[in-house]
Amino acid sequence: MNATESPKNRTPKLTPDAIHFRWMIRSDLPRVMHLENCAFANPWREDEMLKFLASRNGIGMVAELAGVVRAYWLYELRNISYEIHNIAVEHTFRRMGLGRAIIERTKGKLSESNRKALVTYVADFNLPAQLFFKACGFRATAISRQHWEESDADAYRFFYRHRPETRPETKAAKS
Ligand SMILES: CC(C)(COP(=O)(O)OP(=O)(O)OC[C@H]1O[C@@H](n2cnc3c(N)ncnc32)[C@H](O)[C@@H]1OP(=O)(O)O)[C@@H](O)C(=O)NCCC(=O)NCCS
Repeated sequence: MNATESPKNRTPKLTPDAIHFRWMIRSDLPRVMHLENCAFANPWREDEMLKFLASRNGIGMVAELAGVVRAYWLYELRNISYEIHNIAVEHTFRRMGLGRAIIERTKGKLSESNRKALVTYVADFNLPAQLFFKACGFRATAISRQHWEESDADAYRFFYRHRPETRPETKAAKS
């Protein structure tokens, strides 16, 4: 099977109540570093991860299934957006809807904080991630040449603009 072939007929989707989201804590680090090293050709080092998490705008979250961390994501608070730096799902738990659930949760946080967009940069060779972000409602809006110091790869900038749902009473008031 290649990386983009859909195994969805074989892979059951998770129900929302099977997923527990929480803040990343110090004791998650070995597990998160394991997932990071498995997921990326140029993984962040532990000291880079710690520096990011210690920064004022750096947020780390994990997703647990049955009490075990199966995914994590890192995002940065910007003035009007969140920038997702890393998101990774453990290999055997992919295509079950966990990544999408993470993105939906992060979208939900936009309204709470009055921010309007999610932004992320995906390496030009990472087609599965490009398809993932597209499936989650992002659009590729730009190319960033040699985006990362540690690699020659170019990146696609993926952008999601948040449009809060119009409440029914607002609609009624207008008509
Ligand atoms: C990208 C990643 C986070 C997706 O997580 P996931 O839990 O497998 O994603 P989901 O199951 O929620 O997929 C949602 C949709 O995205 C698309 N998608 C996800 N992975 C895909 C793939 N390998 N090929 C094609 N489409 C894919 C599909 O449309 C999918 O819906 P479907 O399964 O009903 O067809 C995961 O593959 C991963 O950890 N990759 C390695 C790290 C990485 O590249 N991170 C992104 C850059 S920071």
